[in-house]
Amino acid sequence: MVADSVPSLSVNLAPNYESGLLLTNPVMTASGTSGFGEDFSKITDVSGLGAFVTKTVTPKKRSGNPTPRTVETPSGMINSIGLPNPGIQGLLDQEAPHWESFGIPVIVSISGYSVDEFRYLASCLDGIEGVAGLEANFSCPNVDKGMEFATQADLLSEATTAIVESTSLPLIAKLSPNVTDMRPIAVAAQEAGAAALTIMNTIVGMKIDVIRRRPFIGGVTGGLSGPAIRPIGVRFVYQVYPEIDIPIVGAGGIRDSSDALEYIMAGASGIQVGTNNFVHPDTGLSIVAGLEKFLKSEEVSSVQEVVGIAHAEQY
Ligand SMILES: Cc1cc2nc3c(=O)[nH]c(=O)nc-3n(C[C@H](O)[C@H](O)[C@H](O)COP(=O)(O)O)c2cc1C
Repeated sequence: MVADSVPSLSVNLAPNYESGLLLTNPVMTASGTSGFGEDFSKITDVSGLGAFVTKTVTPKKRSGNPTPRTVETPSGMINSIGLPNPGIQGLLDQEAPHWESFGIPVIVSISGYSVDEFRYLASCLDGIEGVAGLEANFSCPNVDKGMEFATQADLLSEATTAIVESTSLPLIAKLSPNVTDMRPIAVAAQEAGAAALTIMNTIVGMKIDVIRRRPFIGGVTGGLSGPAIRPIGVRFVYQVYPEIDIPIVGAGGIRDSSDALEYIMAGASGIQVGTNNFVHPDTGLSIVAGLEKFLKSEEVSSVQEVVGIAHAEQY
């Protein structure tokens, strides 16, 4: 790299799609940690991110799980929010009109109870201005049947096919860590036409309130997120990377550019920031700056060059 030249952070998350899914940098929000973007865009400059991933939307409005819905844990948090959202029609009426102003691709996270619900959501979002892609939340641990799609390869395959057939938008399949081996599920998603994979959602956990002698969280169990789960996410990305040809988006416990680089070197082309947005809403922006600084100091011209580099035989 020529000294002082700016390294490229750009990434295409859907190289197998004619339209592609082009991001100027690999850093995104993780679904559910910055709402549908209107409030988040008032507290940080979303235009500096690679893409905005919305909270998950379902066909019908949901009010979410009983409280308390969150609790802090050592190096993380447990949440059982239960996908409160305005439903697809509410989303299109109230939220979608803001997305054009973000100046970056918006990826809408969708979830359903059945293959037909996923199909329906995909067709509703097809052709909507400001929507650049879909992320299928096949892995929510906090709703009935939420995780079944990401733990059963045949079901995930059926839902992926249904989505892909109902829209020209690129689909990112979000997988669950609550499996023994993620590889066959990742391969099934690729074979069914997913453009990319997000690895990973939260890990099921719980806390007991010892004074009340009862589960602390209203939904009893919840999803553990934050730095505590990062080594697990990095491990899954590292294991899945050699098995597939589509891009991986890494998520789980990312706080800074060094954390992001762990995922990237394990095989992730993009990364998402979730829990740390609650601590510092500017986390994504500082990761972008940190990645650029790293590439410059290492004299690497493009972030693509370090994707999966931890698999290289020679240093
Ligand atoms: C409060 C909260 C709400 C979340 N809501 C969603 C959601 O609606 N859809 C989804 O796919 N993932 C959801 N997630 C999971 C995150 O997108 C992410 O996969 C996970 O938290 C791991 O990343 P992190 O450790 O950076 O938070 C949620 C996570 C948290 C902490």
